[in-house]
Amino acid sequence: SAAPEARHGQAEPLVIGHRGASGYRPEHTLAAYELAARMGAEYVEPDLVITKDGVLVARHEPEIGGTTDVAGRPEFAGRKVTKDLDGVQVTGWWTEDFTLAELKTLNAVERIPDVRQQNTVYNGRYEVPTLQEVIDLTRRLSRELRREIGIYPETKHPTYFQRLGLALEPELVRVLERNGLNRPGAKVFVQSFEVANLKWLDRRLRVPLVQLTSASGRPYDFTASGDPRTYRDLMTPAGLREVSTYADGLGPAKDSVIPRDASGNLAQPTSLVRDAHRVGLEVHPYTFRVENQFLPANLRSSAVPSDYGDLFAELEAFW
Ligand code: G3P
Ligand code: CA
Repeated sequence: SAAPEARHGQAEPLVIGHRGASGYRPEHTLAAYELAARMGAEYVEPDLVITKDGVLVARHEPEIGGTTDVAGRPEFAGRKVTKDLDGVQVTGWWTEDFTLAELKTLNAVERIPDVRQQNTVYNGRYEVPTLQEVIDLTRRLSRELRREIGIYPETKHPTYFQRLGLALEPELVRVLERNGLNRPGAKVFVQSFEVANLKWLDRRLRVPLVQLTSASGRPYDFTASGDPRTYRDLMTPAGLREVSTYADGLGPAKDSVIPRDASGNLAQPTSLVRDAHRVGLEVHPYTFRVENQFLPANLRSSAVPSDYGDLFAELEAFW
């Protein structure tokens, strides 16, 4: 991964458009990424999965029943199957069972229509974008907006895909290289929840890597070696030291940085940021969002945590 001088090194927080401006357009569409950049985001964040013919596309999950109109397409009805996705049984349609050409016939739609009703007016107007299309978009916008829009791709379920013979990481390396983006100083971060995958990328990429963690305490290793350690172990001083050997940053859930008390109020920060900085890791917490905050209680979704209170107070606390 990148040498220290390649890190962004700025004192102010970065603004990363999570899945694009996903509160305003269906997530992971070119429209969502473009709006994020126009709203001031410095990076857009494509989650990456892979097609049957090995093309990286932006979706949060390989299962696309909820983020495309595939369920309403009779010609694909026979492709609905149940699979084991990292230990969870999921029924639906899977990017790895579609060629890019087939996927391009689908329309991206809003994932949580009850929470983001305003986004549903855009349903059915957008394609599932490839990583190459996202890069092309950020280049066009960088020229137009006269500031560089970076990309912050996340490899989703790389071990799952590897078992299917569809290696996601080498394709990411190829796409970054093809675009001249595998170099220190490129406005790119690569992130993943999977440790083995990041260690592999560390030997091949020259851009900064970010180890994502989760507050859930679930084991992080889906490979055959079956390391029983959990994300919480990774956030201890010893775990962070290990992370710093292959990554440049830590991407914790924001509750791991500033937890909330039983009433949902912001509690005292943990030592995580200090501990991570001590071993040279940047910290990029996720995710600040407002959907539930502005909706009447009967429209709030269990898909989005309801404890976000005052977003601005929270942002200030992180600042
Ligand atoms: O950048 C961290 C964040 O993207 C991880 O969460 O589930 O939204 O991809 P998720
Ligand atoms: Ca992500």
